Amino acid sequence: MQGSSGKKVENQDRRTFFKLAGLVAAGGVVGLHSACHPTEKAPVIDTALSEKSFWKRVQAQFALDPEQVYMNIGTTGAMPIGVIDNYDRYNRVVARHPMGFTDELGWEFGLVKQREKLGRQFGCTKDEIAFTRNTTDGLNTVLFGLPFEKNDEILMTHHEHVSALSPLQVLKDRFGVVLREVEIPVLDLENGDQVVEAFKENITKKSRALLFSHIPYKTGVRLPARALCKLARENGLISIIDGAHSAGMVELDFRAIGCDFYTASGHKWQCGPGATGILYLRNHGDRLPLLWPQNSCLYPYVSQPVKNDRLKINDFSSQFGLRGQENYPAMQAMLDACDLWEEIGRDRIEGYVCGLSSYLKRSIKQSFGNSTPLFSPDIPELTSGLTSFNPFKDVHDQKKIEDFVDRLKREMGYVIRSTEFHLHKEDTKSTYALRISTHLFHDHAQVDGVVDAMHRLYERMR
Ligand SMILES: Cc1ncc(COP(=O)(O)O)c(C=O)c1O
Repeated sequence: MQGSSGKKVENQDRRTFFKLAGLVAAGGVVGLHSACHPTEKAPVIDTALSEKSFWKRVQAQFALDPEQVYMNIGTTGAMPIGVIDNYDRYNRVVARHPMGFTDELGWEFGLVKQREKLGRQFGCTKDEIAFTRNTTDGLNTVLFGLPFEKNDEILMTHHEHVSALSPLQVLKDRFGVVLREVEIPVLDLENGDQVVEAFKENITKKSRALLFSHIPYKTGVRLPARALCKLARENGLISIIDGAHSAGMVELDFRAIGCDFYTASGHKWQCGPGATGILYLRNHGDRLPLLWPQNSCLYPYVSQPVKNDRLKINDFSSQFGLRGQENYPAMQAMLDACDLWEEIGRDRIEGYVCGLSSYLKRSIKQSFGNSTPLFSPDIPELTSGLTSFNPFKDVHDQKKIEDFVDRLKREMGYVIRSTEFHLHKEDTKSTYALRISTHLFHDHAQVDGVVDAMHRLYERMR
């Protein structure tokens, strides 16, 4: 009985969800564009009508309020309609059979098949990837699992998120770990080597780990992850990447990046449900001194601290992903969003998102003038879907920026957010910026619209 109904649900899912199958085939005719290489004239998607209609159909997959233009994916994304429908269906099956839903939906303990699929999409094996609640969850698992001791140094940029800073501060206060903030260039950033050099200068004999956001949320610059991980390996450091803003925005291959840990959100750019994420651990942790399981309900009966051969007893996911009763529907729905991204093409999404972002950056410069500080560079390898800038004379005026964000939403219908940071590590005053997210459900007309709306509001508020 359950077997046959399970099949029914699966087939129905495929039919309902993969509405994009035909679309992707049509899109394939015009081919993929290379990631983040905007042309001087216009983004590549403007060159062919079929590209335009392809993205129009992608955009029709979302249920966003048409009365507003939502441009704050950096905080959280929006589920596609097919993902919502599936999520709803999974929840209904769980509600009907609270104990038997796993059979009915064909899910097994540890979601092995699902992790295999995730591994294929993110460049790793099923035993190197775990489902988590979000990026914060992954960061806590890693930072509290590693055996840091008094005077061990952890290097990080001066633009990290509180999700990393909070566990790091606990390590400092509890164990005497030393936190070394590395200043990364902002306005004078021209290439990734400058960032690598800044980290290199701060490595000492006591350095143990290097932590950075692949895309720091404050400015939206994309940091040179591969080169930083290479630097970490060359110096015997553990590399930990906060990937809150990369999964679902840019194509990721964890093995190729060469990090030890990568923690990412499923609910932001990947557009899965809330409280979903992934955590990657390289090569079964064989480079690590030790890694303690965190909150695992199987310790010490099944799981053990990870140290070389001991990890092989169990897979990483069982040891680090388990937190008691799981939200299987949410995890599966996130995977459905991942499958949709695969269908569209992750390189194609990256090209589109970064192309749109580059168009936004150039439009801001055109509208507000070349001297307007853009905190996220329009340089292909350093670009992401986040753009931050401040059009006002006084970049330290917090109230002005916050009022601007508020009025842009209330009066113009564009939802963005503000960020606060120190341009230079030693600054005593914060700099404030407007941060705009552009994603696959946006188009050039919306980018023109937000720039125009921001400019009109700026004229009223300057
Ligand atoms: C850089 C960065 N790291 C971590 C987080 C936290 O993400 P999550 O809510 O998925 O844990 C955020 C949230 O915006 C972020 O910007």
